Amino acid sequence: MFDEYGIPRGAELGEPALPALHHFVYCSRASDGIDDAEVGRIVESAQRHNLASGITGVLVFGSGVFFQWIEGPAAPLQKLIASLYGDSRHYDIVSLDQSEEERERLYPNWDMERVGAEDIRLVLEDALESAENKNNVAALKRILKQLDSGPLNSLGRS
Ligand SMILES: Cc1cc2nc3c(=O)[nH]c(=O)nc-3n(C[C@H](O)[C@H](O)[C@H](O)COP(=O)(O)O)c2cc1C
Repeated sequence: MFDEYGIPRGAELGEPALPALHHFVYCSRASDGIDDAEVGRIVESAQRHNLASGITGVLVFGSGVFFQWIEGPAAPLQKLIASLYGDSRHYDIVSLDQSEEERERLYPNWDMERVGAEDIRLVLEDALESAENKNNVAALKRILKQLDSGPLNSLGRS
């Protein structure tokens, strides 16, 4: 990790030695019986798991629809995606965006933050405003466009 001068290896190249960060964005429909309390339990358990595996992101629940942005190192992220596809608490998972490019975290401080449906546009617009990585910018623009036209358009409206 450090050379004989205590300088992190890779620092002399002027770039931090970041592991490639992947992300996955999807929406899905909540199964019957999934209410606010159950979503609270999902988030609580997600925060514990995600902290341990270096995953961060955002979860939105509104009008019976989930929207989630997850980001992290490839291996734990792929494992989580597989778990999500096998989780009976939601169905009709629609993948909105997935990347394997090197990028910065959009939500470095959120192990899993639940955001109200009415706030999702703001959260994405905020992220777009501060995003420097062109892959993040492109992904966020695609999602915002989808918010207006796709399966997410019931979110953010009450
Ligand atoms: C909408 C939704 C979002 C979820 N988000 C996460 C998450 O961010 N992190 C996580 O570890 N589990 C999350 N889960 C739970 C996983 O699907 C799974 O139950 C959990 O990772 C434990 O998986 P395992 O039983 O295969 O170990 C979520 C479940 C749902 C329905």
